[in-house]
Amino acid sequence: MCGIVGYIGNREAYPIILNGLKRLEYRGYDSAGIALYDGNDIQLCKTKGKVADLETKFSAGISTNGSLGIGHTRWATHGVPNDVNSHPHYSNSGNLVIIHNGIIENYETIKQELIKRGYTFKSDTDTEVLVNLIEEVMNHEDTKLGKAVQIALNEVVGAYAIAVFDKRKPNEIVVAKLGSPLAIGLGNDEFFIASDASPFLEYTKTAIYLKDEEMAVIRLGRDVKIRKIKDDQLVDPYIQRLKLNLEQIEKGGYDHFMLKEIYEQPHAIKDTYRGRLLANKGIIKMSGVDDNLEKFMNAQRILIVACGTSWHAGLVAEYIFEDLARIPVEVEYASEFRYRNPIITEKDVVIAISQSGETADTLAAIKLAKSKGAFVFGVCNVVGSTIARETDAGAYTHAGPEIGVASTKAFTTQITVLTLIALKLAKLKGSLSQSDYHYHLQELELIPQKVEQALKSDVHIQMIAETYMNARNFLYLGRGYNFPVALEGALKLKEISYIHAEGYPAAEMKHGPIALIDENMPIVVIATKKGHYEKILSNIQEIKSRSGKIIGIVTEGDENVRDLADHVIEVPETVESLSPLLTTIPLQLLSYHIAVMLGKNVDQPRNLAKSVTVE
Ligand code: M6R
Repeated sequence: MCGIVGYIGNREAYPIILNGLKRLEYRGYDSAGIALYDGNDIQLCKTKGKVADLETKFSAGISTNGSLGIGHTRWATHGVPNDVNSHPHYSNSGNLVIIHNGIIENYETIKQELIKRGYTFKSDTDTEVLVNLIEEVMNHEDTKLGKAVQIALNEVVGAYAIAVFDKRKPNEIVVAKLGSPLAIGLGNDEFFIASDASPFLEYTKTAIYLKDEEMAVIRLGRDVKIRKIKDDQLVDPYIQRLKLNLEQIEKGGYDHFMLKEIYEQPHAIKDTYRGRLLANKGIIKMSGVDDNLEKFMNAQRILIVACGTSWHAGLVAEYIFEDLARIPVEVEYASEFRYRNPIITEKDVVIAISQSGETADTLAAIKLAKSKGAFVFGVCNVVGSTIARETDAGAYTHAGPEIGVASTKAFTTQITVLTLIALKLAKLKGSLSQSDYHYHLQELELIPQKVEQALKSDVHIQMIAETYMNARNFLYLGRGYNFPVALEGALKLKEISYIHAEGYPAAEMKHGPIALIDENMPIVVIATKKGHYEKILSNIQEIKSRSGKIIGIVTEGDENVRDLADHVIEVPETVESLSPLLTTIPLQLLSYHIAVMLGKNVDQPRNLAKSVTVE
C-alpha cells in the first residue's frame, strides 16, 4: 500500500507532489510527507493524517521551494501512524532521503547489524533501516547512490517501490521496484515518479512502468537508465503512451468518487463488453480466451482466486460457470489458497480476479498456481498492473479508474467479463440451448440500460437509508446467484459506515442468525422473481413473524413481497444469471447514503486502502 510521488525538472516540485499525493490517497491515508531540495538543503515536512493535514503544516511557514522532491502517503505496516514513522526518512548523515511502498521483511536483522556499526534510528520503520543500509554501502564501498541502492537491495528480502535522492547530487533520483508498482513519467527534460500515472497525467502521457527487480537512475539531461537489480544487466525501456484522461480520475460533479463510480456502471459495463459481445450475430470475441480455447475447453475444473469484492464476483462466477457452461468451479480466498498446500494440476484453469491487479495475496496465489503448471487467466481492471502481467492470459474489465476504496463498478464489470467467458464456453460445449444462448446475449446487451433504470431508485433509497442509519446491525439475505450479492452488500455497508453487517444464504438463516432478529434488525432480502422466489417468500415470512424490518430487493411490479416487506426497491427483470448486475445497485446506494448520513469518509474509510499490496 502507500502512494509515492517524485519530481525532478525545472518546475516547482511541491504542487506537483502535493496534488499527486492527493490522487494517490486511495493507496493509504494515515500519514503523509514531502522532502524537497531547495538548492541548499533538504526541507522535510511530514505528519500523521491526510495530505490535507500535510498541506496545512507546510502553509505554517515551511519552504516549498525546489524542483527536486519526493512525497509519500502512508498505510502503516511497521510502526503506528505518527509523525516520526511517516515518510520520507533521512539517513543518519542527513544526506539521503527515501520514500518506500512495501515491506522489508528482514529489516530487524539489518537494523541490528547497523546499530552495531553505530547507526541510530528515530522511527520504528523498515524504511529507515533501508536508507541507512544504502548509506552504509555508499560509505563502506565508496560507491555512487545508484550502485549503493543496487547492492543494498540485493541484501533485503521483501517488497518495495522506492525513490531516494542524495542532497549532494541534486540532479538525480534513484528508483527501484519489486512487488509494488512504480511508473516513471517522461517529460521534456523533467521526470515524474509515481505509484500510478495519475499524478503526472496533466504533464505527460509518456511513461515507463518498471518491472519487478528493476531499478533506474533518473538524471536530468540524460535518458532513464534501467538495470536488473540482481545481475546489473541493462534493460531496454518499454515506453508507453497512456490513454488515461484527467477527467476519468476526477469527481466530475459528484460528491464522492464512490457515487460517481456507482453511476458510471451503465457505461462501464458497456465498455467492458464493447467489441466482445456481438449479440445480433451470436458471437463473443475475447482474444485472451480465443487464443487459449484448448485450455478452457479441456479444463477439469476452474479455480477462482481473489480477495474482498473480487472474491464475491468470483462466487457469482461459480454459479454462472457451473450453471451455464457445466464446468466445475472452486472459489478460494487468495490468502487461504496460497498457504494451504492446495491440489493444483496442469488440467486446472485458474482465474485470478483483481480490480487493482496489485493485491499481494492474489499475486502470490497466481505464482503458486503457475509453479504447479496451471494455466492462469487474469481478470483485472488496471491496465499493465502486476497481475495483468504475471498471468498467462487475461481480459481487462475496462471499468476505468476506480478510486473510491469501496469497490462498485469493478464488481459489476468483473461479473460482465466472467459472464462473457462462461457464455462463450457454454456455446462451444453445447451446454446451453441455442435459444437460451441467444437470449442471454441479448439480455446482457440490455444490462446497461437496466442498470440505468435501477439507479432511478436513488431518492427512494435515500429515504430508506434515513430510516435505518442508526441501526447497529444489518442482515443481508439472498439465494443462488444472489447469495454472493448479499455478501457484497454487507461488505459495502461494513467498510464505509462501520455498521456491523452479515451476508447469509437466506435458507441458512434458520440455522443460527434467526436468533438475532427482532424489531431493531433491518434485513435486506434479495427476492427477485426468478431466484428461488417461493422459497425466499417463506424466508421473508419467517422474518416478519419475528418482527424484523424487511427491505426487499424485488423485480419490477412484484406485489407479493410488497405486501410483506416494510420497504421494497425494484430492479428491472432479467435472466437469473444476470440479476446480480442489477440487484447489487440498490445495495451500493444504500450503503453509500447511510455512510454519508453518518458523516463517514466514504471514499477513504478508516484502516483501509484501495490496493492491498501487503499480505
Ligand atoms: O484490487 P482487488 O480487486 O484485488 O482488491 C481486492 C479487495 O481488497 C477489495 O475488493 C476490497 O475488499 C474492497 N475494499 C471492497 O470494496
